[in-house]
Amino acid sequence: MVTVPTSPRRARLAVLLSGTGSNMVALADAIDRGTVAADVAVVASDVPTAPGLARAEARGLETVRVPFDRSDRSAWEDELARAIAAHGVDIVVLAGFMRILSGAFLAHWPDRVVNVHPSLLPAFRGADAVGDALAAGVRVTGVTVHLVDELVDHGPILLQEAVAVHPTDTRESLLERLHPVEHRLLPVAVDLLARDRVAIEDGRAILPPDLATFPADRSAP
Ligand code: GRF
Repeated sequence: MVTVPTSPRRARLAVLLSGTGSNMVALADAIDRGTVAADVAVVASDVPTAPGLARAEARGLETVRVPFDRSDRSAWEDELARAIAAHGVDIVVLAGFMRILSGAFLAHWPDRVVNVHPSLLPAFRGADAVGDALAAGVRVTGVTVHLVDELVDHGPILLQEAVAVHPTDTRESLLERLHPVEHRLLPVAVDLLARDRVAIEDGRAILPPDLATFPADRSAP
């Protein structure tokens, strides 16, 4: 009798977004190219009219809408958790999701909620990282992909890449150079999690040796 080895189950992703969803599209494209060992199980949003939901639906992805309810935040969050858990989700990807998630939500997916943020954390946490970087006059900013803890834009850092700030930059022009970096880094980080290649030690993420200095270390001799 021939035993056919069964391939390990691919990780199932929930992608949470509030806006245009370009990171969701980049992740779905990377999955289609075969570079991420995961599938998008569901795309969820707190904003029923978020353009990212229409983009997800256009490519045949499942979507759920859980409109934010300011009057009962914890009931809203429970409903969101239930709605995505119903899709058998292993990893939650925050791709421009503009709400803060509590410890109760995060406890459903310990060390498996990942966020992409347009700054080199811990600099410029918060909703206007690009504007804040410009206001501070920094010469370099960048992109961080990190695991999410209970603080805003905080938690073990998975990947970072620097992006130069030009003297003539506006929020729009800088975002235009940050976005392609986000689109490149987020799928790499999700693949690492999907393949269980991230260890957490003392609150820091330890990556496998082949990615320990990803992207290439330009300061190396
Ligand atoms: C990105 O800049 C991301 O870093 C931030 O929100 C933005 C979302 O963009 N958290 P998009 O909706 O993926 O185009």
